[in-house]
Amino acid sequence: MSSSVNEAPAPDEIPSLYGPGKTVKRVRTRHLIEAKERGEKWAMLTSYDQYTAALFDEAGIPALLIGDSAANNVYGYETTLQVSVEELLPLVAAVARSTHRTLIVADLPFGSYEAGPAQALETAVRFMKAGAHAVKLEGGRRMAAQIRALTGAGIPVMGHIGFTPQSEHTLGGYRVQGRDAQAAEIEADAHAVAEAGAFAVVLEMVTSSVAAEITKQLPIPTVGIGAGSETDAQVLVWQDMAGLRRGKPPRFVKRYADLATVLQDAVKAYADEVRAGEFPAKEHGFE
Ligand code: KIV
Repeated sequence: MSSSVNEAPAPDEIPSLYGPGKTVKRVRTRHLIEAKERGEKWAMLTSYDQYTAALFDEAGIPALLIGDSAANNVYGYETTLQVSVEELLPLVAAVARSTHRTLIVADLPFGSYEAGPAQALETAVRFMKAGAHAVKLEGGRRMAAQIRALTGAGIPVMGHIGFTPQSEHTLGGYRVQGRDAQAAEIEADAHAVAEAGAFAVVLEMVTSSVAAEITKQLPIPTVGIGAGSETDAQVLVWQDMAGLRRGKPPRFVKRYADLATVLQDAVKAYADEVRAGEFPAKEHGFE
C-alpha cells in the first residue's frame, strides 16, 4: 500500500540500497552515486573487526569505513596521528574477510600520502591488496593531485574535508568549519575533491547550511558527520553510536544503545558466579 502525499512513507516503501528486489551482490561506488540521484539517504559506520563487520553487513549498512579512528577506538592512542599503515592493514583484511555486500573503505593514515601522488598510490595499493574497495584521505584542494593519481590508477577515493582530525594542530583543535568567510574555502575544497575524481566526500563538523549547499552543488554523495541532516549520507564511529565508548560523546553523536553497561553487567555477573561457585555448572563440564 502506498502512502498519501502528506504521510511519511512506511519503512518498507523507502527505497533502499538493499532490500527485496533491490539487493545488489556487492555495493559499488556507482550504487552510492545512483542513490544520490534517487534522493536516497544511506548510513555508513566504522568497523575494525570481524564480528562488527559481519553484523553491520547483515544489517544492510552499504559502506563500512576502517577509519584511522582505530587509533582511539582500537589501539588506545590519544589521537589519530599515531596510528600506522601496518596497524590498519590487518583490520582492513579482517573486515574484508567477514563481509559480502558492503563497500569497504580504508582510511589512509597520517604520514602515508601527504608527500605526493607517488606515496599516496603506494599506500593505497597496499590497502587495496588487503581487501579494501576504496580508500579515504583527508584534505581538499591540497590533495587534488593525490586523488587524481589514485583514481587514474583505478582506485576509488572518498574525500574528507571540513574538520580533518589529522590536521587538528593546524586547525587549532576540534572546531566547526565553514562559518563566515570559511564557507567559500570549504566549498572550493568540495569542488576540488569532486573534480579530481572522488566518488564521495565526508564533510566533518561543517555548518549545516554549508553542508546542505555543497550537497546540492556536488554530483557525488556527501557523507556527513556533524554536518546536519541535508547530506546524502551519515557516518558515525560505531563505538560512539552503540555506546561502547564511555564519557560525554561529541554533540553530533546519537547513542542508539548502551553497550558499555550491557557488557559490564555481563562481566560482573560472570565474575560473581565464579566467586559464588555457580559457574561452571554441571552442564558446562565433561564426564
Ligand atoms: O576515521 C574515522 O572514523 C573517520 C570518520 C569519523 C569519518 O574518518
